[in-house]
Amino acid sequence: MTITYKDAAGIAGMRVAGRLAAELLDYLTPFVKPGITTNELDKLANDYTTQVQQAISAPLNYAPSGHRPYPKAICTSINHQVCHGIPNDKPLKKGDIVNVDVTVIKDGWHGDSSRMFMVGDVSVAAKRLCALTYEAMWHGIVKIKAGAYVGDIGHAIEKFAHSHALSVVREFCGHGIGRNFHEEPQILHYGQPGTLDQLKAGMTITVEPMLNIGRREVKEAGDGWTIVTRDRSLSAQWEHTVLVTETGYEVLTLSANSPAIPSFVPVAERTPVCA
Ligand code: MF3
Ligand code: CO
Ligand code: CO
Repeated sequence: MTITYKDAAGIAGMRVAGRLAAELLDYLTPFVKPGITTNELDKLANDYTTQVQQAISAPLNYAPSGHRPYPKAICTSINHQVCHGIPNDKPLKKGDIVNVDVTVIKDGWHGDSSRMFMVGDVSVAAKRLCALTYEAMWHGIVKIKAGAYVGDIGHAIEKFAHSHALSVVREFCGHGIGRNFHEEPQILHYGQPGTLDQLKAGMTITVEPMLNIGRREVKEAGDGWTIVTRDRSLSAQWEHTVLVTETGYEVLTLSANSPAIPSFVPVAERTPVCA
């Protein structure tokens, strides 16, 4: 899968898909409470995507090589689960932190975004992890512009994470996105400035760092999909889909109820662009 560049029509399509992904997360937000099962969230998500948004849940039956088809419409990764958690019939409980990762396909274009949710009151450590991982994502995003390097993004994220004694998962990364769910280039969440691919206007990529309280090592949990921290420490992740522009970037997965953008992000780039 090579790098693709979106023309004006492609950008318009990606803006719509990105907005729908964000609006799906907005829709799910009030339901993420103690007692709901992740299967219930999955059904709410798929019904909203297909019936209200007239769109498609990209994860459902997604089958990259080496994987069995993914069986659900969303990923729900709880506590020490890092990513790709499969919804099930277990209720969420007070104190859980859960990542909900959604990807919608609209008119062939993919919008991919995830947020952390705190279920009831959570520990100070869990709250801190969620907040710092959100900031880490934005430290990566603000590096994006035509001519910058993929390594600039990863370096910014890793530097920020390490400055707060958090580790960065290396086995999973952001990606190009467009008519395909996962395209080149890989967007690593660690690395050195000035290395790897150079960004060009018209690329659309995701930034989706996974940060752990403990060690960075992960393993597959045994269901073919769910990734967990080896030391069972808490993990958090946030994800946006972003368009690379000549002067910077445009975050495509923003919506009315997106969490506030950190104050270190330049103001011009904090205004959502309406499609
Ligand atoms: N949404 C994930 C990502 O950010 C990918 C999930 S693949 C699935 O790239 F099959 F598990 F849904
Ligand atoms: Co995702
Ligand atoms: Co992604």
